[in-house]
Amino acid sequence: MQIFRHRTEIGVVVQKFRKIGLKIGFVPTMGALHQGHLSLVDKALKENERVIVSIFVNPTQFDNADDLTNYPRQVDQDVELLKTLNTKNIIVYAPTVADIYQDAIRSEHYTFGGLEHEMEGQFREGHFNGVATVVRRLLEIVKPDKAYFGEKDFQQLQIIRLLVEQLGMAVEIVGCPIKREPHGLAMSSRNSRLTKVERQEASLIYRILLDSKVKFGTKSAGEVTNWVVRQFYKHKHLKLEYFIIADTSTLKPVKRKSKKKKYRAFIAAFAGDVRLIDNIALN
Ligand code: PAJ
Repeated sequence: MQIFRHRTEIGVVVQKFRKIGLKIGFVPTMGALHQGHLSLVDKALKENERVIVSIFVNPTQFDNADDLTNYPRQVDQDVELLKTLNTKNIIVYAPTVADIYQDAIRSEHYTFGGLEHEMEGQFREGHFNGVATVVRRLLEIVKPDKAYFGEKDFQQLQIIRLLVEQLGMAVEIVGCPIKREPHGLAMSSRNSRLTKVERQEASLIYRILLDSKVKFGTKSAGEVTNWVVRQFYKHKHLKLEYFIIADTSTLKPVKRKSKKKKYRAFIAAFAGDVRLIDNIALN
C-alpha cells in the first residue's frame, strides 16, 4: 500500500491511473478508522480499480478548539486496519495541514439552499463551510470517478451532493449505509471515549430510532417527537440535543406527512460528554 503526504505525489499517481483508463474511487476520512470507514473503502474497491483513502483531520470544520486538539491522530494504526482489505489497490493520502491550506487555514463560504442551516448547522457554527472547503479541495486533488460518504452523516452527504452539483464537478457521490456495533450503536471514532455505562445507554439511541419508525406509521411527527423526548428523561447518562423528523431532500422538519415524500428521523445526543449522531429512514 502506498502512502503519500503531498498533493503533487497524488497528482502523479492519479495521472498515471487515468492514462491507462483505471477508475478511481475516493473515500475521504479524518482517520481513527473503524469498520464503518472500512465498509466505504470496501464498496469503493468493488466499484473501482483503484481507491484513494484520505486521512486528514480538517481544522476548519471544528467549532470547538478542544475537540480539534483531542481528535485522535493515528495514521499508523489506520494503515494497519486498511491492510485487512485488498491493499494492492489502495493508496493512502495523509496530507499535512499546509498541503491542503498552505498558510491560510480558513473556510470558504458556501450556501446550500438552506440545508446548511438545519440540524447540525444550528449546533455547529461554520461546520459545513469547513467540510465543503476541504472536500472540494480533496476532490480537486484526487479527481475521482466516484466518492463515497456515509449516511451516518446524512446531512453532510446531502450537502456534498449539492456542492458537486453547484460546482459542476464530474464525480458521482455514493451514499453508504450506516455500520453499527452488535448492540446497534452507530460506529464512530468517538465511541472509544464512552464508559461502559455510557456505551450501554448510548445503544438506546438506535432502539429509540427503530421505535420511532414504527410509531411514525400511525402517529404524527409531533407525537413521535414528544415520545422520544420522554424516553431520554429516563436515562441518566443520555441528554438529547435534538430529535427531528425531516424531509430527506430539504432536511426541513416535517409539518404534515405526505405519502409522496421520503422522511428520516435524526438524533443528536450526549452520552456523558460525548456527542453522538444517528439517523434512520422512516419510509
Ligand atoms: P469521518 O468522520 O472520518 O468520516 C468519514 C466517512 O465515514 C464519512 O463519509 C462518514 O459518514 C463515514 N462514516 C463514519 N461512521 C460511519 C458508520 N458507522 N457507517 C458508515 N459510514 C460511516 O465525515 C468526515 O470524516 C469528514 O467530515 C470528511 C468528509 C472526511 C471531511 O473532513
